[in-house]
Order: sequence, then structure tokens, then C-alpha cells
Amino acid sequence: MVNLDIHIVGVGNLGSSLATGLNNINKDFNVHLYDQNPEFSPMKNSVIKNEIDFINDGVLVLCIKPKDIKQFISSYSDKISDNVLICSVLAGVETSYFEKYFDNKILRLMPNLSIKKNTWFIPYTKNYDDDYLSFLKILNKLGSISEYDEKLFHVITSIYGSGPAWYLELSAKIVEAGQKLGLENAEANRIVEELVNSLPSLISEEGFAKTVDKIKSPNGTTEAGLNSLEMDSFDKIIHNAINSATNRSKEISQEINND
Ligand SMILES: NC(=O)c1ccc[n+]([C@@H]2O[C@H](COP(=O)([O-])OP(=O)(O)OC[C@H]3O[C@@H](n4cnc5c(N)ncnc54)[C@H](OP(=O)(O)O)[C@@H]3O)[C@@H](O)[C@H]2O)c1
Repeated sequence: MVNLDIHIVGVGNLGSSLATGLNNINKDFNVHLYDQNPEFSPMKNSVIKNEIDFINDGVLVLCIKPKDIKQFISSYSDKISDNVLICSVLAGVETSYFEKYFDNKILRLMPNLSIKKNTWFIPYTKNYDDDYLSFLKILNKLGSISEYDEKLFHVITSIYGSGPAWYLELSAKIVEAGQKLGLENAEANRIVEELVNSLPSLISEEGFAKTVDKIKSPNGTTEAGLNSLEMDSFDKIIHNAINSATNRSKEISQEINND
């Protein structure tokens, strides 16, 4: 049996994380990398090409920024055969955009950078029925996958694609607070890293709010901090951030379509 060819275009943050994740499980496919300014080769002995020659079959995974998609399509649309599964991780760029230029099957993913550790969850949507080229089966080896209506992709992009940034920004602010209250920078970083590492063990089926309840005790330290968050409208701050990111995804869709 001939191995599936997976072509990753754009070997930046996301493309290199995907290549690393695929390399960790690579058995039945060949990964080809393309970037106009390659800085990082995620795999030993792998070559990053500057340009696509012609892609006759297999999977093309687009990991470029939304601003570069128009240029990519004008340069390469005639170098991609209709057999190729086109897979996109681009925030805000809808399946219907690709359908204007390609007759190919289109798969849209919204991963985050955790893909490099093979712990990813991949929300996806697609414009075909079956598991063409068994690519979903391969993605499923990287973590778990779940199909969503594309209408939900703006908010999914905001809470999952951008999501690590919300937690990491919060962690950075906790480090800053720890420092202001007497810890050395290295100590504060170490403690917050350990804290973040401990969180997965606290995720349970009963939901986040109930677990928070278990940490706090009446008139205790956690309750004092939670009350302060409430006084400062933490819920509003978070809602506004998620809403801004969701709206930006909608704006990108409009900008790309009007371009
Ligand atoms: N980063 C995340 O956490 C994340 C999460 C979910 C989804 N995404 C999506 O993933 C995509 C990539 O994000 P990123 O953070 O990985 O961006 P990035 O680090 O800027 O990587 C994109 C790479 O693609 C290259 N490139 C641009 N046009 C190209 C072309 N025609 N042929 C070959 N290479 C080309 C860029 O080169 P230059 O630098 O020279 O332009 C750059 O190296 C975005 O669409 C984003 O919405 C990202």
C-alpha cells in the first residue's frame, strides 16, 4: 500500500506543532513541509521546501495566516489536483471561501498549539460525508476529534484556538502578583508552572464551578480571592475577551470575502 502524503504549508507556530505531533505517530504517511521563510525544521533530516511543485494526491494542510490565503490561492490553485483533500486551520476562513476556488473536498480544523504533544482535541467541520483518505483516523491518533456545525467555529476559535492564551495570560498575571507580594521571579514562575501542571488532575465530570466550591471554605483564603474577582467583574472581563475574539473571527471572514 502506498503511504499517504501529507503536505503542510506554513511551518510557523501551528504548522511546526502539527508536524511534530504527526512525526510522533508517523507510521503510515509521508510529511512534506513548505514555508517561504523556513526557520524551524521540526523533524530530523526533513527538508522544508520554498514552493509547491504540483500536488497530485494526498492531503494539503494550510497553516498560513488568513492574510496570506489570497496570495497562496493565486499562486498555487492550478498546482493542486482535485483529488487532494484540502485541510485548513485558518481562523475565520470558512469552508465556503475555499469552495469558490476549489472543487476539492475541504476539511476545516481548529486545533491549538497542544498538538505538538499529541494531546490535542480537534474541533472540525467538512463539506463531504465519508472519511476521505482516512485522514480523520490519522488526526484521531493525535488526540480526539469532534465534528461541529461551522456556524459555531467563530466561538470555537475564540475559546479553543486562542484558548491557551487566556490561561497563560492569567498565569503570567499570577506570577506578577506573586512577585509584588514577595516572591522572586524564578520562584513565582516555578510555583505557577507546578500549579498549571496540577490542573488536569482536578478536571472532573461534575464541572468547573463545583470543583471551585471544593477548594474554597467559608471565610477562607480562596473565598476572599473569589469575592475580590466578583467585585472586579471577572465574569464581565472574561465575557468581553471571548466576545472580542469571536467578533474578530467574524470580521476576518468578512475581510477575506470582501478582499
Ligand atoms: N498559533 C496558534 O495558536 C493557532 C491556533 C489555531 C489556529 N491557528 C491558525 O494557524 C494559522 C497559522 O498560524 P501561526 O501562528 O502558525 O502563524 P505563523 O507562525 O506566522 O506561521 C505561518 C507560516 O506560513 C508561512 N507562509 C505564508 N505564506 C506562505 C506560502 N504561500 N507558502 C509557504 N509558507 C507560507 C509564513 O511565512 P512568513 O512569516 O514569511 O509570512 C510563516 O512561516 C493561522 O491561520 C491561524 O489562524 C493558529
